[in-house]
Amino acid sequence: MGYNPDKPMDGRISDLGPPHYEQFFPPVIKANKGKWLWHEITQPGVLMHKSETGDEVYSIRCGTARLVSIEYIREVCDIADEFCDGYLRFTTRNNVEFMVDSKEKVQPLLDNLASRGNKFPVGGTGAGVTNIVHTQGWVHCHTPATDASGVVKAVMDELFDYFTSMTLPAQVRIALACCLNMCGAVHASDIAILGVHRKPPMIDHTRITGVCELPLAIASCPLGAVKPAKATVDGKEIKTVQVNVDRCMFCGNCYTMCPAMPLADPEGDGIAILVGGKVSNRISHPKFSKLVIPFLPNTTPRWPETVAAVKKILEAYAADANKYERLGDWAERIGWEKFFEKCDIPFTDKSIDDYRLAYDTWRTTTQFKYTSHIK
Ligand code: HEM
Ligand code: HEM
Ligand code: SF4
Ligand code: SF4
Repeated sequence: MGYNPDKPMDGRISDLGPPHYEQFFPPVIKANKGKWLWHEITQPGVLMHKSETGDEVYSIRCGTARLVSIEYIREVCDIADEFCDGYLRFTTRNNVEFMVDSKEKVQPLLDNLASRGNKFPVGGTGAGVTNIVHTQGWVHCHTPATDASGVVKAVMDELFDYFTSMTLPAQVRIALACCLNMCGAVHASDIAILGVHRKPPMIDHTRITGVCELPLAIASCPLGAVKPAKATVDGKEIKTVQVNVDRCMFCGNCYTMCPAMPLADPEGDGIAILVGGKVSNRISHPKFSKLVIPFLPNTTPRWPETVAAVKKILEAYAADANKYERLGDWAERIGWEKFFEKCDIPFTDKSIDDYRLAYDTWRTTTQFKYTSHIK
């Protein structure tokens, strides 16, 4: 039965949930579920898992752009039909994995993927740089301070060799969020690219009463910078808000609540870089990433300043860290003052926490190292 707009609830199906994942298991995964013994990475992008039954499964991991067309998805399906009996999966970092049940089937699949130009780059395993977890940017969101897909493409182009190799001390997770809502993983990634504003919101007094719940806008501000106020519009006194610009740190939260308080600005907006976060419990506990570069401009379409900054941090880490050390483990071991020196990043007051629990982030010890890079 087709949808009838006159009787919208007729024949309505709801609350079905997702289809059960087991119906999409390749047969070898289904047969060996819960029986895996060990695995190895046979080459960058290719994993082998051995089961106690003796079965093997080879997974071939390819980078994707995350934002993809239906034509691309159909091409992925064609590859899966030809080589994997129609089965495939996507990873938590939006890579795609093709699985085959014997070693002989790996090379023909790799050859086929290679014949498609750079559409299906094989990699993303082990101690390299895998896909960048990212957000909507200027493609779809209304609160971004930068773009997502554009910056991610520019950075992955520059770091491409790290995607297809495993030469780093440990894996490096890069993530991007286009505003500090931080949709995704920027708060807990080795290198994080974050869209930031530098100007307070404008207030559209002509619209604000109609489109905003003023108490929500007031309560949305983490710094109490938004206050109730009165303004005169067309000779009439209306209720509105005012922003104490000396208190505002441009988070954009009030705009999320109130469409009459936009703050995006071409010159003001840009990118901050944070580093040293991780999610795993491996050796050290999970960590938040920390602000090391407060601002880089939005230089479309290739963001050269951001690309250079990410590359410089990655290379300093690769040259200096011990095996298995995540970027945050390295920075904490050598001391953040040495991190700034080795990455040749000028330290600014913007990296000094001044929000509520800031005290614990300052140095309450005489232990520190002299650094030389700031003249
Ligand atoms: C409660 C269950 C799970 C949680 C909380 C979880 C959480 C995570 C997290 C946080 C990451 C990212 C780690 C990082 O980037 O440092 C990750 C990656 C991954 N997880 Fe899980 N996961 C779970 C179950 C699973 C299962 C059942 C599978 C597979 C059947 C799986 C496969 C993967 C893979 C393949 C990656 C790496 C993806 C890549 O590097 O491309 N996870 N998981
Ligand atoms: C006894 C069973 C298993 C053990 C002990 C095991 C252990 C591990 C370990 C220690 C890692 C590396 C974590 C790190 O990078 O810090 C890893 C990675 C991974 N494992 Fe397993 N694993 C098992 C079974 C499986 C199975 C059954 C699958 C999928 C069918 C799987 C998929 C993966 C993937 C995709 C990665 C990420 C590889 C990468 O990002 O380079 N593992 N596993
Ligand atoms: S990070 Fe911010 S701008 Fe980007 S998608 Fe999420 S809410 Fe939108
Ligand atoms: S942008 Fe953030 S800090 Fe500034 S007034 Fe709005 S909510 Fe407050």
